[in-house]
Amino acid sequence: MAETTKFTGEEARLQEMAKDHLWMHFARQSGMEAGHGVPIIARGEGHHIFDIQGKKYIDGLSGLFVVNAGHGREKLAEVAAKQARELAFFPIWGYAHPAAIELADRLASYAPGDLNRVFFSTGGGEAVETAFKLAKQYWKLQGKPMKTKTISRNIAYHGTPQGALAITGLPVMKQMFEPLVPGTHHVPNTNFYRAQEQGFMGETEEEFGLWAADSIERMIEMEGPETVAAVFLEPVQNAGGCFPPQENYFKRVREICDKHDVLLVSDEVICAFGRIGEMFACNAYDFVPDMITCAKAMTSGYSPIGATIISDRIYEPFKHGTVSFPHGYTFAGHPVSAAVAMANLDIFEEEKLNENVRTNAPAFKATLDKLKDIEIVGDVRGAGYFYGIELVKDRTTKATFDDVESERLLRGFLSKALYNAGLYCRADDRGDPVIQLAPPLTIGQSEFDEIEQILRGVLTEATKLL
Ligand SMILES: Cc1ncc(COP(=O)(O)O)c(C=O)c1O
Repeated sequence: MAETTKFTGEEARLQEMAKDHLWMHFARQSGMEAGHGVPIIARGEGHHIFDIQGKKYIDGLSGLFVVNAGHGREKLAEVAAKQARELAFFPIWGYAHPAAIELADRLASYAPGDLNRVFFSTGGGEAVETAFKLAKQYWKLQGKPMKTKTISRNIAYHGTPQGALAITGLPVMKQMFEPLVPGTHHVPNTNFYRAQEQGFMGETEEEFGLWAADSIERMIEMEGPETVAAVFLEPVQNAGGCFPPQENYFKRVREICDKHDVLLVSDEVICAFGRIGEMFACNAYDFVPDMITCAKAMTSGYSPIGATIISDRIYEPFKHGTVSFPHGYTFAGHPVSAAVAMANLDIFEEEKLNENVRTNAPAFKATLDKLKDIEIVGDVRGAGYFYGIELVKDRTTKATFDDVESERLLRGFLSKALYNAGLYCRADDRGDPVIQLAPPLTIGQSEFDEIEQILRGVLTEATKLL
């Protein structure tokens, strides 16, 4: 066991309190319990973050796919303070306030087709939970009460509430909380690199796209279309390391959903607000879902908020008489968050952040592709400013690391080495081991190069350790 890390001054005080009282999310407490401390980030500026000792890091993950406009935006801080002075809080339970109204109108203006109705929440999991409950009630109001099941994809993450977690396709994240909401089924994802392992027997990416989409139809038919409420898909799946859709995928999925009268939910908690170069990623992939779930970068993280955006068709039965949707959250559409979201979206437009992503995405990908000359880099994939680098033991066979090797490589070495080298990003083993990158949308070629250089050094080192 390594010795207890020595901390000094203000950091020692904070580490002590963290050790005694802070419970970190999705993380082992044992390192902190053993006295090794936790990295403490104290400040952010543009695409950089600074730890409590003042050391600077590239924020290669926008916090957690959140700070898309970058850190330290004075304007967003000012808008938050102004709104807190004017009206710090009011619910949207039968009342409204200007900021929520303005933001609902604006989100509807960005959404495709007839997605015109906005139901706010405070984060992504709640947005997914809302869509799930809304789908069930919608079908009951349509006289189809058996339509309650969902279909989503293997390894996909959709949040922690018990409904959203049931939709999630990561068994290890669910086992401790079973039984969850029943009737949630999972199908292959769009990871072409591991297509054969998912059961695909064809050759081309085009065939694979159709096969993966058709797996949704096979599941609907197996379960019975009269029992399936909705399909939940991210435009680019994050967990597993960035699986963009094949060109034909969403067109086929939309046809299948229409044919079987099943709702299509585009879970854009990560993909919305510029990550793929559009306000909503379904616009990048040219499909119109029945609902969009979004959160994270709507405010670039300066205040929390989430939303479920709903089509006129789904909203229709809720318009009449005594019908209501008995669901909501105290802090949903919070005035400060809604005002900050408006100002954040102004920044997106003034600084043309979506255009920046669309223009620079090919160069970002090309820069990361250079890493393919390193022995453990198996695949580099993604879209926009959103990439996954899959690490393998053997590039020819695509053999992946076993649990012990993965533990040693990702947790024991890579996460810390990248951080020590000045790059905050994520080494993730929810599927096969990947490094995930999703930096603020403001960066360009010189930062791509800097990221590539850090990754090159650390991954080369990791290869030697194996
Ligand atoms: C696709 C997707 N859906 C839902 C969620 C849950 O969002 P939150 O953590 O805000 O509850 C996440 C979180 O990362 C996500 O990536």
